[in-house]
Amino acid sequence: MQIHPMWADYPALAPELEATLGLIETNIHPNNQPVADALLAMINAGGKLLRPAYCLLFAQFKPVDRQKMIALAAAVESLHTATLVHDDIIDKSATRRGLPTISAQFGPDVAVYAGDYLFVVCFKLIAHWASDLRSVQQDSASMEQILNGELAQMGRRYNLEMTIDDYLNQVSGKTGQLFALACFLGAYESGNTGRFAKVAERTGMAVGIAFQLLDDILDYTSTLDTIGKPVHEDIRQGVYSAPLILAMADHRAEFAPYLARQAAMTDADIQAVLALVARYDGVALARQMAQRYTDQALAAMRKLPDRPARQTLIQLTTQLLTRQS
Ligand code: IPE
Ligand code: IPE
Ligand code: MG
Ligand code: MG
Repeated sequence: MQIHPMWADYPALAPELEATLGLIETNIHPNNQPVADALLAMINAGGKLLRPAYCLLFAQFKPVDRQKMIALAAAVESLHTATLVHDDIIDKSATRRGLPTISAQFGPDVAVYAGDYLFVVCFKLIAHWASDLRSVQQDSASMEQILNGELAQMGRRYNLEMTIDDYLNQVSGKTGQLFALACFLGAYESGNTGRFAKVAERTGMAVGIAFQLLDDILDYTSTLDTIGKPVHEDIRQGVYSAPLILAMADHRAEFAPYLARQAAMTDADIQAVLALVARYDGVALARQMAQRYTDQALAAMRKLPDRPARQTLIQLTTQLLTRQS
């Protein structure tokens, strides 16, 4: 089992993440071979394992029950992977982690079941390992927020009036919430107070928003080869993200004729929109916003107790701001 190469710089964390991935694998037993094969391939395709990493790091402020924390990290990663499998159906994406998506390879029916199966893995692990109902409640509340973020995004497709606040609300649901849950579970389940866990949760939210901003920036600055998933599809599908929204703010009339063609936008229309985003500094403005959320997370991390995990959290969060994939 090969974990993402970024973890070579984190020798203390790498074996914990390998164990997390191994535990997910041992929990996958659907009674359908294509679903099992599809899931195992997806899990071993080199996802970055960021959410389990944050969960494990926030667990290191108390003496660690290793088996329990790896189980909860595995629960968080299973939930994340479930949302990706379903997301690729909704977004009609052909590639994920450099491989054909489950939906593209086996069809949306297998992909629905495969995603559902991963939700089950998440529930099973949390139900078994959570110390009390608080974590179960937190998990279900997070799932509701993730879904509502996705639904808000769907409801605003092709909406030229969409504001940056609408975007940030969507993103705090669809992405921030999972990072928040990861940090909360790590902190709470390792025996910290509810108050500490809430600080962890808020910190995770800021990390997650910055992470999604970077993801949306990479949609403008990278290629399928470098990022392992399709780029520029959001525009055609009417999912407007930070670089476009920020560039368009004072220049809506210039963008409108291209975007108004919606799903019928040609490649030339897309190129014209990309040129306008470049002219009005959309990527730079989105980067500034990602920097602000990262700074917010780092400020909270600097106030954490002085343990080695604090420095690792700071290093990882700083690194995410300059990631290229
Ligand atoms: C992809 O998340 C979905 C977003 C929230 C942008 P990751 O980029 O963490 O996905 P993997 O797990 O590394 O493939
Ligand atoms: C990722 O969303 C899925 C969730 C956060 C639920 P996106 O559609 O924005 O991310 P990618 O680009 O497919 O990874
Ligand atoms: Mg999506
Ligand atoms: Mg997608």
